[in-house]
Amino acid sequence: MASPIRHYLQFSDFTADEYAWLFERAAVIKKKFKAYEKYHPLADRTLAMIFEKASTRTRVSFEAGMYQLGGSVVHLTTDGSQLGRAEPIEDSAKVISRMVDLVMIRTFGQDKIERFAEHSRVPVINGLTNEFHPCQILADIFTYIEHRGSIRGKVVAWVGDGNNMANTWLQAAELLGFTVHVSTPSGYEVDQDVAGIRSSDSYKVFKDPMDACRGADLVTTDVWTSMGYEAENEARKKAFADWCVDTEMMKVAKPDALFMHCLPAHRGEEVEADVIDGPQSVVWDEAENRMHAQKALMEFLLLGRVS
Ligand code: CP
Ligand code: NVA
Repeated sequence: MASPIRHYLQFSDFTADEYAWLFERAAVIKKKFKAYEKYHPLADRTLAMIFEKASTRTRVSFEAGMYQLGGSVVHLTTDGSQLGRAEPIEDSAKVISRMVDLVMIRTFGQDKIERFAEHSRVPVINGLTNEFHPCQILADIFTYIEHRGSIRGKVVAWVGDGNNMANTWLQAAELLGFTVHVSTPSGYEVDQDVAGIRSSDSYKVFKDPMDACRGADLVTTDVWTSMGYEAENEARKKAFADWCVDTEMMKVAKPDALFMHCLPAHRGEEVEADVIDGPQSVVWDEAENRMHAQKALMEFLLLGRVS
């Protein structure tokens, strides 16, 4: 019997052991790319990318990454496809997955990507939903490992919205054995049920973002208003005014603490320019690593543990 299809819909879809494998493969694949070594394990394979929200990094990293692995991509948007004209998601999944080998989707509710996956013949990857952004945290932890070694036992400070990125950090902490210090304005807290974690053992909540950053190994944040929440923009600007990662916050973190941001960033809102453009920031490595980590992810989903 053929083994069941693996999807990557949330961070908890893989085990700690599989992450160890992915981080190793990402390093190998990155090295080959930097050495201009041709590596085409996905020749003749096709990735469909479905975007219901805007993207720069996710689009470029998946598209360039798939070509570098010898495959090709098909790019779909809501407006330019029948998805925007109410074709059922189940029908779209059945059709698209008969023609391609892998599907990446960026959409709104997590339920939508789950319904797609349920009717797909091929692996489905979450390229961001309202609830989760697993590919980003995959790249972020790979970046942390490159700079500082294992993340196990470390403290990650999350300053800002209890959003898709925060939820995914919480899942990662539970799975990989580190702690998240979360500070959000009231009304924007993380919700353990939405985050899909079993207990509160791997995170601590702080009212004051300075306290969340104290002693942290990594400080990270995200936009005040995520895609899909634009109508709340003005209210959020007021609520989040004190949740701007500044040099004072970086000073109370560990002296060798890193700063990460999934990007796009708004300097002067969730982060000061001196921090994101400062010496502790690794945001450009983080963005580049989306591509290397996702190449390892696509290789794993299609070929398993290659030797
Ligand atoms: N970080 C990230 O997912 O960026 P894009 O929205 O540009 O894809
Ligand atoms: N939380 C942000 C991340 C963008 C990459 C959003 O969902 O818009």
